[in-house]
Amino acid sequence: TVGVLVDRYGRVARDLRVSLTDKCNLRCTYCMPAEGLPWLAGPQLLGDDEVIRLIRVAVTRLGVTEVRFTGGEPLIRPGLVGIVTAVAAMAPRPRISLTTNGIGLDRLAPTLGAAGLDRVNVSLDTLDRERFTRLTRRDRLDAVLAGLAGAAAAGLTPVKVNAVLMRGLNDDEAPALLRFALDHGYELRFIEQMPLDAQHGWDRASMVTADEILAALRSAYALSPDPAARGAAPAETWLVDGGPARVGVIASVTRPFCGDCDRTRLTADGQVRNCLFATEESDLRGALRSGADDDELARRWRAAMWGKRAGHGIDDPAFLQPARPMSAIGG
Ligand code: GTP
Ligand code: 5AD
Ligand code: SF4
Repeated sequence: TVGVLVDRYGRVARDLRVSLTDKCNLRCTYCMPAEGLPWLAGPQLLGDDEVIRLIRVAVTRLGVTEVRFTGGEPLIRPGLVGIVTAVAAMAPRPRISLTTNGIGLDRLAPTLGAAGLDRVNVSLDTLDRERFTRLTRRDRLDAVLAGLAGAAAAGLTPVKVNAVLMRGLNDDEAPALLRFALDHGYELRFIEQMPLDAQHGWDRASMVTADEILAALRSAYALSPDPAARGAAPAETWLVDGGPARVGVIASVTRPFCGDCDRTRLTADGQVRNCLFATEESDLRGALRSGADDDELARRWRAAMWGKRAGHGIDDPAFLQPARPMSAIGG
């Protein structure tokens, strides 16, 4: 069978996000508690060959054209380079990207680029070392900055920077982060905080909104609408001071973009999620380990996507945060 991952609302998922581990070497306060989380056990994790097999099903039978690796922190997955190499050899070759905290990327970027990685998105919420340490509970700002530079030097471009602003912590830093991104040629995007933290501490009233972020940026820069088509991208973008540089805002909460969603997700333990906020998953690992062939895996994946809800429902009074935290979904 060759088909596509279409849901009952007619959305087609062409963009696959693969979480390669739920572990991370940082402890961002908006994501994880200081002590970490109960990690997935070894046998629960898909092996490298299993990950590659499922991606191949998506790419060769289900019309997936973009594969993004996420975590936790994907750079700590030992088999990452081999997985990228295998995906780059698939026909038709998908575009391959990675979302990372940047630690170790200075060293790994050339190898990953040679393996077939096209581009990276790096998380960076503050440029202040003391704030960085408070926010991530690790004193690793220099490593992240080196990772960004290494990615650009290795041609993993456009290098995008993801920043989450938190009230009272770094919400005064929007213009400085943009200055930094412009100076280095990175494409900065601000992300509204979503209710996906393990501690269930999200609160809408304390979330820094897209409107606030744009107002702060406009105090220092002229922003004009980006004429480039947005497509299914979560980020809405603006030209900075007439362009060509751009800045983006991912306003999942105040300006949801679910109607254009083109995503499907695979967790590190082999579960398909049809939405970041899905409350149900579909177990491909079980099917794969009990001998399902590629047709059967593709059939199950399509069935999982058919049940995708119209939207995340954050504004619904009955909204329930998914049981799996952000770090185990991959954003
Ligand atoms: P690009 O292809 O470079 O635009 O990647 P991206 O922005 O989709 O991916 P990235 O991993 O950098 O994610 C940036 C932010 O967007 C994170 O906070 C993600 O959780 C969020 N995000 C990614 N996909 C979705 C989605 O389908 N829905 C929502 N609501 N947020 C998403
Ligand atoms: N809300 C929004 N973005 C988040 N990220 C992590 N947790 C959240 C959250 N609760 C961001 C990370 C990273 C990206 C994958 O998602 O900072 O840049
Ligand atoms: Fe897609 Fe779900 Fe994200 Fe909405 S919240 S854009 S439906 S993954």
